[in-house]
Amino acid sequence: MSKRYDDVMSLSLRRGFIWQAVDIYGGLAGFYDYGHLGARLKRNWEDLWLKYFLSLNDNFHLIDTINILPYAALKSSGHVSHFTDYLVRCGKCSGSYKADQLIEEETNISAEALSAEEIDSKVEELGIKCPKCKGTLGKASPFNTMFPLLIGPAGKEKAFLRPETAQGAYLNFKREFESLRKKLPLGLAIIGKIYRNEISPRQGVYRLREIIQSELQIFFDPNAIDKEINFDEIADYVLKIHFVKDRKKQKVSMISCKQLADEKILPRFYIYYMAKVQQFYLNELNIPIEKFRFFELSEEERAHYAKLHFDIEVDLETLGGFKEVAGIHYRGDYDLKSHEQGSNQKMTVFLDGRRFIPHVIELSFGVDRNVWALLDTFFVKEERTIFKLPKQIAPYSAAVFPLVNKDNLPKKANELFNELKKELTVFYDTSGSIGRRYARMDEVGTPYCITIDYQTLEDNTVTIRDRDTAKQIRISAGKIMPFLTDLIKGKEVIK
Ligand code: GLY
Repeated sequence: MSKRYDDVMSLSLRRGFIWQAVDIYGGLAGFYDYGHLGARLKRNWEDLWLKYFLSLNDNFHLIDTINILPYAALKSSGHVSHFTDYLVRCGKCSGSYKADQLIEEETNISAEALSAEEIDSKVEELGIKCPKCKGTLGKASPFNTMFPLLIGPAGKEKAFLRPETAQGAYLNFKREFESLRKKLPLGLAIIGKIYRNEISPRQGVYRLREIIQSELQIFFDPNAIDKEINFDEIADYVLKIHFVKDRKKQKVSMISCKQLADEKILPRFYIYYMAKVQQFYLNELNIPIEKFRFFELSEEERAHYAKLHFDIEVDLETLGGFKEVAGIHYRGDYDLKSHEQGSNQKMTVFLDGRRFIPHVIELSFGVDRNVWALLDTFFVKEERTIFKLPKQIAPYSAAVFPLVNKDNLPKKANELFNELKKELTVFYDTSGSIGRRYARMDEVGTPYCITIDYQTLEDNTVTIRDRDTAKQIRISAGKIMPFLTDLIKGKEVIK
């Protein structure tokens, strides 16, 4: 792991963001727990995601579905047959490795599309040995990465922990379509845990076995969708895309939505959702454009259900370059059709005089990866250590300090703290010098610190300090709540 990874992880451990689970027993590979600040940050990210994506259409809704799915449902969805990675085993120490990962580490080129035979010849050609003991690696074989389980005491009913939240939306589509007055597009969002039995989770927080996903499945009529989206709104917006055809040249295109549509490079509805996702990253999460790109997957690299697949990648210094944090998948009618065949339940809808199976575009996000991307991107270690998180998702919105721990200042500070915490997540601190208290809050990303000093006792004013500039102004204590709210929304700045 890089030096930056170690720096971010060490802060994360010390201040309560995220760490390897069960560490008192030596840790469990591929499992991480969130501490008191990480859990708040994660929740704030999820709330922002939900607010942003549900607001794209009045018929987009949140649902919540089960984590264990029966064999039959995952057989129909294609996961029993296709949810596999290639595994290679060391002949000497029996260490198991994800074959494409070993090749990628050697060549820096994506190896996801390689067949078993291609993997075997690459391993031989590149002379790849077991990373642990340098033993010779055996032949590649497929390994299904779903976690199997048996339901009930007789252990007769085979099931799996869900490998994606998406299936919950497909299994409930018909019911929701009926109860939401039979309208398309219909969006069903799910935020929850999914499970993947990764062969060798060696990339820290990036490759996990227990993952939080936030996914929005948008069900639509393929004949109507282009009229239902407001394409004009994004026509001139420029997307940053690394197309498959430009992989060798390593060229990234800046291309307007209009050009993508006019030249029929991608369907209009797909471009529309790409624009909305890019705007989420650039405008809501403040990811700099240099660190953002869409990355197109070739037919061989795409998941079994995807007709079109672009990953969203963020350049993460901790992990050595651009890494996938989300994906936009056009799944066509694959999923509903498969469940119709598997369950014998009709998935067709009758709209505009036609009976058809709706198509799906899926916006899929790895929440843990996104939280890590925030830690990586906004962690600044210069004269001061500052976590320059977007203000609306910081674990604490503000902190309140009495300048000194005497002379009625704590009483006054406590009154203000109690008032603010009715509306906002606020931290109260009396320990250490005021400088140290500011530094502690900068480090965990608290955007504003409010200090009660001797002047407060005279004129009821307080100071409010901006995390990023360290500038302070004095303001009447009575006005602090609306002022803070405007600051967090970006409607006010401390000048
Ligand atoms: N639902 C898509 C994925 O899990 O990647």
